[in-house]
Formats: sequence, C-alpha cells, structure tokens
Amino acid sequence: MKLTTLKHALVAGLATAALAGASAAAAQTAVTATLRADQPGAVIQPEVYGQFAEHLGRGIYEGVWVGEDSKIPNTKGYRTDVVEALKAIKVPLVRWPGGCFADDYHWREGVGPRDKRPVKVNVLWGGVEEPNSFGTNEFMDFAELIGAKTYVAGNVGTGSPQEMAEWVEYMVSPTNSTIANQRRANGRDKPWKLDYFGVGNENWGCGGQMTAAHYTNLYRNFAEFVRVPKGTKTEKIAGGANSDDYNWTETMMASAAKNMDQISVHYYTIPTSKWDHKGSATKFDEQLWADTMVQALRMDELVTKHTAIMDKYDPEKRVGLSVDEWGIWHDVEPGTNPGFLYQQNTMRDAVAAGATLNIFHKHAQRVRLTAIAQMVNVLQAMILTDKDKMVLTPTYWVYDLYKPFQGATSLPVELNTPAYTVGKSSVPAVSASAGKDAAGVVHVALVNLDPNKSATVTIKLSGVTGKTAKGRVLTGPTMSAHNTFEAPNAVKPAAFTNASIKGDTLTATLPSKSVVVLDLN
Ligand code: AHR
Repeated sequence: MKLTTLKHALVAGLATAALAGASAAAAQTAVTATLRADQPGAVIQPEVYGQFAEHLGRGIYEGVWVGEDSKIPNTKGYRTDVVEALKAIKVPLVRWPGGCFADDYHWREGVGPRDKRPVKVNVLWGGVEEPNSFGTNEFMDFAELIGAKTYVAGNVGTGSPQEMAEWVEYMVSPTNSTIANQRRANGRDKPWKLDYFGVGNENWGCGGQMTAAHYTNLYRNFAEFVRVPKGTKTEKIAGGANSDDYNWTETMMASAAKNMDQISVHYYTIPTSKWDHKGSATKFDEQLWADTMVQALRMDELVTKHTAIMDKYDPEKRVGLSVDEWGIWHDVEPGTNPGFLYQQNTMRDAVAAGATLNIFHKHAQRVRLTAIAQMVNVLQAMILTDKDKMVLTPTYWVYDLYKPFQGATSLPVELNTPAYTVGKSSVPAVSASAGKDAAGVVHVALVNLDPNKSATVTIKLSGVTGKTAKGRVLTGPTMSAHNTFEAPNAVKPAAFTNASIKGDTLTATLPSKSVVVLDLN
C-alpha cells in the first residue's frame, strides 16, 4: 500500500472507531464482585513496584544523570526534576545496569575519577559512546537519594566469578581489604546495602546464548561467589526464562533452587505480536487496543504456570518469582535512534499497567519483585525528558495511584465481569484487586479495559469496616491520550466521586478506559 493510501486508511479507521465509540458511549457494562477482606493473602512487597534502569539510549544519561556541571538543575549530577518525581511515587527498588548491557559490563571501568574512566562503545544499544561516568558509586548513591532498594545485575556472559565476587566486595565489604579501601578512596566509607544481586541477564539470549542446562551449572558456580558479610543479606536472583520457556524454569528449579532466593522471568507485551513491526505507541485503532490488552493479560497465565513449576521443587514458596522486565514495547518514536527504544506512552499503556499490577497483587505470594522496563526515556517509561523539560507519563500516574498497595496485604476479589471483545481479541472488561494497609485501610483498584463503555461495579464487602469510598481516577478523552512536552498535563489523575458504600455494598461507576483506586475509610 502506498504511504498516502495507508494514511487515509488509518485516519478513516480511527474516525470509524471514534463514531463507534460515540454511539456506545451511553452503554454500560455491569460487573459484580465480592471482596473478601476476611480471607487475607500474602503481603504485596513494595518491590513489586520496582523500576528497571539500563545503560540504554537516554535512560541513564540525560534521563537520570546530567553531571554536576550541567545547566539542567541537578543534585550532585542527578537531575532534580526526575529525582523529585521518582521520590513522589516512592520507587522502592531500581535494577541496574542492564538488561543486555549487564553481560557486557565490567564494573572496574565505572569507578574512580570520572575523567580517567575508559570510553567504550555501547554495542548493544545504538553503538554510541558509553562514557562510564555513571558507575557503581553513582548508582548506589542515586538509589540512596531516592530511597530505593538496590538490585545490581552481574556479568556472567563476558565476566568471571572472580570479577563478580570483587564487585560485591567493593559494594558491601566493611573490612580494610584493598578493594573496600578502593571504595573509600572513591568517596564512600560505609558499605552500601546491596539488597538484590542478579547473576546475569537473559543468558538464553543476549547474555550468552546458553542452554538452560549450561546456565544452570554456571549459575551455581557464579552464585557461590556472591558472598556478603555475616549479618547482612543480599538476595540472589537467578536469570530466568524468556516468557513461556517453562523448560528453563524447570531445569533451574530442579538443580539450583537451593542456591537462589528468586528466579527471574521477562515478558514484554508486543501489541502486533511481531518483533519487526510492533506498531506505533500513539497511532492505533481499537483492534490494536484490544490485542494489546490480550497480550498484557497473558502475564497471569505466565506467572501461574511458572509458579506451578516452582511449587513442585519449592512447595514452601521460599523462592520468589522476580518479573524483573515487563511492559509494552512499541516501535520507537519516528526520527529517534532505533537503538534507543524511546517511545510515547498513552492511556493504552496506563490501562495495561493497571491490569498487570492487579495480576501481581493476586500472585503476591510468589511475585515479590518486579521491574517495569524502563524508568526514564526507554520503553514503557514513567518519565520522558527533553533537555531541561520533563513529562510524567500516564504509566507514571498509575504508579502514583497504586502507591497504597506497597506493603499492603493482598485481599481476594472474586469478579464476575462480561468480556470486552473486538474481533478475535477478548478480555474481561474489568480488572480488580484489593489490599489492606498497615493502618487497616482497605484499598481497591479497578481498571476498565473497555475504551467505549463505562462500567458499574457492584462489590459485596466481606470483612470491611470502611463506610466511605474516596479516591482518584486516571482516564483520557481518547485511547491514545498522552502527555507531551507542549501539553504535559493532558492525562493526569482527578478526584473520583462516583463511588459509594451502602451497607455492605460498594458501587463505583468507572469511565471507559480508566484506572481507579479507592480508599475505604
Ligand atoms: O529492556 C530492553 C532489553 O530487553 C533488555 O536489555 C533485555 O534484557 C531485554 O531483552
């Protein structure tokens, strides 16, 4: 198809979708549910709200780190606007330095005086120069600055157990060893808290093209040398499966379960299901909206099946399932470096994020950590930057709404919802989850996946003492509503007034394509 014809077809398609949306606007979905506060589940660990920050595109450089001499307002080199925005959503954990970058990264190149650090080529992501000016000290101090736990991913693909052991020693040793003193000479006296250490990344792919059996042996070998001082704990995370590669999890759990605290899994939502043409982040029709939701909700099946395998080898559920890369992967924004993975972020991304977080709440017993890809300027980002400007994405606002779930106890919600169907793509129209915080307040998250119909949700409350329901809603005028540097507040949460409790029944009417979080007081 010629480009102009394609453009017309797309515009016509969007117009038809808009008309269909208008005629369906009055229609409503009716959903019923039971919230069982009297049957509490596991705690939703704050780390479920973790973020991934890789040396990729403008994720670290420009996105987080501008250097002390930058004209962009910064705090010791970290851009102040981004730091404040991340603190506001209480980012509980950051995973660094990769991703694929991790298995090419040699930590010694990123410590010591910045002007003496070697300049490398980031062969994985755009072939650009990697100045190494953001290294271990900069990462660990950044995590401290925003109050996040640290998750460092080590190098198995091109590294050695010795290099890995010495990196851990550099970060956590309280002794006067030469390596610990090197850290002191580089400006950090006290050991840092290294909360999680990942032994490689995607070692079935960019991390070394290994078989499951080969990586399992290497994992046991490398993990043995991740040694931390007595009385401290660093959780070891094993490199895990590519989405539905259940054989990987089976092989790892059979032979290395006792050597790990968590095992990872990575899953990306590709709206078109085609890696070489994932589709535009902002220009899409309703079919692609629905296809995206189907792909995103696959997370439930993946977590359920990986969990079932883990249950065979670890029935006590000691080992966690760390979904440390997930999110929607679109085509890059036109005109940007294809290796930088810079994409816009719309209500579609927000609705998919809300529904995915609800899945994680349901699986809180196994899923104790996740890291959305990625934090700033890369893939499904929280934040986009352009020189000194910053924009908070719809996905950022979902993380803001969901803050009360960090550390809350997951409560079961039995949902009876009609489907939302377009062509062959069908998903439950509404997704829900609930949690009780330390103060005893119950929070309910409701996501309306239908971009045309509002939904009235009637929830029977079992074991809830709250008498009022107040909260916030995130929605937008169109499926592709998003924030830009020119209009940064187009999509933003607002007070939600369409909920009430009568007796033991909560009723809420959700706008189409919306994410709502309610506090029951
Ligand atoms: O997040 C981008 C890349 O996706 C990561 O580097 C890699 O681990 C995954 O394939």
